[in-house]
Amino acid sequence: MGRDFSNPEDLPEACREIMITYNNLMWKTGDTLFELLSEALGLNPNYLKDIGCVEEMTIGNGYYPECPQPELSIGIATHSDPGFVIVLIQDQIGGLQVFHEDQWFDIAPVPGTLVVNLGYMMQASLITNDKFKSAYYRVLSNKEGSRISIGSFFMNNSCSRRYGPIKELLSKENPPLYPEITLKDIYINQTSKNNELSALDKLKLASRS
Ligand code: OGA
Repeated sequence: MGRDFSNPEDLPEACREIMITYNNLMWKTGDTLFELLSEALGLNPNYLKDIGCVEEMTIGNGYYPECPQPELSIGIATHSDPGFVIVLIQDQIGGLQVFHEDQWFDIAPVPGTLVVNLGYMMQASLITNDKFKSAYYRVLSNKEGSRISIGSFFMNNSCSRRYGPIKELLSKENPPLYPEITLKDIYINQTSKNNELSALDKLKLASRS
C-alpha cells in the first residue's frame, strides 16, 4: 500500500521544502506572465492582476501509467482549461499535443522549459474578446514508460465573479462578442466530446440571438 501524503505535515522535510519553493516560483511566474500578457494586449502591466487573474492557483500532478496498447487508450482527452492560464512542466516521456489548424502537433519535452496554455476564461477568448484564443490539447498514452506532469492552474474559482470582454479592448469596430459570465457558466457549457463547439462558442452573443 502506498503512503498517504495528503496531509502536507506528513511529508518528509525535503519534499515539503521543494513543494513550498515550487509553489513560490509558480506565483512569481504567474505575476510575470500576466504582466507580459497585459502588455501584449496594449494594457497597463498590472491590468490582468488587478482583475484577479493571479489571485488563485491550484497545482495538480498528472500521472500517466505506461500502457501496453497506447492506440486503444488516451492519457487525457481533448480539452481546453476553463480558467485563465495553465503552466505545465512535463518529464521527458512526451505525449502532449496541441490542436492547431485542423491537426495535432507534438509539444516535445524540452528540459528546463514550461508550457503555457491559455484557458477559456481569459487569454482564451472571453476577456480578450477573441484577441487571444485558448488551445485544445490532449495527452497520448505511450508504452515507453509512465509520464509525470505538474500543472499550475491560474483561475478565479469564485463562481459568482463575473468576467466579460475587457472594456479597453472594445470599440465600434470591435464590439463585445461575449456577455459577462461566471466560471460556472463555462463549466455548464463545457463539452466533453472532442472538437465540438467550445464552451465559449455556445456562450457567444451572436449564437444566442
Ligand atoms: C490537465 C492537462 C496535461 C499534462 O491536467 O488538464 O491537460 O501534460 N495536463 O499532463
